[in-house]
Amino acid sequence: MSDNSQDILVHTEAGVCTITFNRADKKNSITEAMYAAMADALAQAEQDAAVRCVVFQGDMAIFSAGNDIGDFLQQSAGGAAPKPAADRPVWRFLRNIAGFPKPVIAAVCGPAVGIGTTLLLHCDLVYAGDNAAFSLPFVNLGLCPEAASSMLLPQMFGYHRAAEALLLGEPFMAEAALEVGLVNRVVPPGECNALAQAQARKLAAKPLSALIETKRLMKAGQAAQVAARMDEEGASFGRLMAGPAAREAFTAFMEKRKPDFSKC
Ligand code: COA
Repeated sequence: MSDNSQDILVHTEAGVCTITFNRADKKNSITEAMYAAMADALAQAEQDAAVRCVVFQGDMAIFSAGNDIGDFLQQSAGGAAPKPAADRPVWRFLRNIAGFPKPVIAAVCGPAVGIGTTLLLHCDLVYAGDNAAFSLPFVNLGLCPEAASSMLLPQMFGYHRAAEALLLGEPFMAEAALEVGLVNRVVPPGECNALAQAQARKLAAKPLSALIETKRLMKAGQAAQVAARMDEEGASFGRLMAGPAAREAFTAFMEKRKPDFSKC
């Protein structure tokens, strides 16, 4: 069995907890074990008084290729709906990041696919390398959006641009993400992680109680709606995951061929 304990690196220094995707050979795609590690890291960072801010990062070439498709295929195998949403590490991770009280920053270079993009909707500051490519190919995988992105994306992008991103699932680049407000600033990829760290250090020097209260107030109007939408999406996602379109999409990816949805 391969050792995957290094696929997520967690490092805390000077009040900043940095969570790094470290599975570059698989484009930082995220396994169940990685979701569990990130959910645990967030739970611990919330409790740890020494942590004042969290940073998510990949490397200069890749943020994350989204959910591991081999894991998706396993979950959809047999046609049975996967275990209840609330039990799965991915939903625990999403709940933890959506409700995380302290500031969260992301540094995104290269592809940010699926949850690699939707997790950004729950970050407070997002910095992108000029090579960042965001995509939400849920429909292309026979699935539907998660992380409350079916609600947050139309709010942020406007309906038609959100529909283009979610229905077509084609990548959009850093400048387009800047224009719609998904990212704060676009910089050369070699500067992105350092910029995120510099901003995190600034936040870490501020009074934590005031940061937490300000973030809570900014999100207070929609926290319950986000949680409810995540539950609704989770139920649909689980149902679609067990369907023929998703199985065909996952199998096609693993077999490195185009999916055939003519019967789905
Ligand atoms: N799950 C599992 N493995 C993945 C993966 C994923 N989401 N994304 C990439 N990989 C693997 C590839 O199978 C390949 O493995 P191999 O070397 O054993 O053949 C390796 O990572 C490199 O991927 P490759 O596609 O050759 O890299 P690329 O630079 O040409 O393209 C991406 C990068 C991210 C654009 C492309 O890999 C991609 O589209 N991945 C799937 C994204 C996706 O649909 N995610 C689910 C979102 S819900």
